[in-house]
Amino acid sequence: MKAIIDTDSCIGCGLCVNDCPEVFEMAADKAVAKGPVPAGKEETCKTAAANCPVQCIKVE
Ligand code: F3S
Repeated sequence: MKAIIDTDSCIGCGLCVNDCPEVFEMAADKAVAKGPVPAGKEETCKTAAANCPVQCIKVE
């Protein structure tokens, strides 16, 4: 599983980093995915995607 962020849409609120720091981190004023979603973090990652205020995280 991996998370893909539409960085053009990301407003840099940091909520995804709060929700799932194992997957997301801030790079300057945008969030980036560090890599594949680690085992056991799938649900947390999906929650982070669902909570993104601009819905710019896709999990697949
Ligand atoms: Fe950006 Fe959404 Fe995260 S706006 S910082 S991808 S919660």
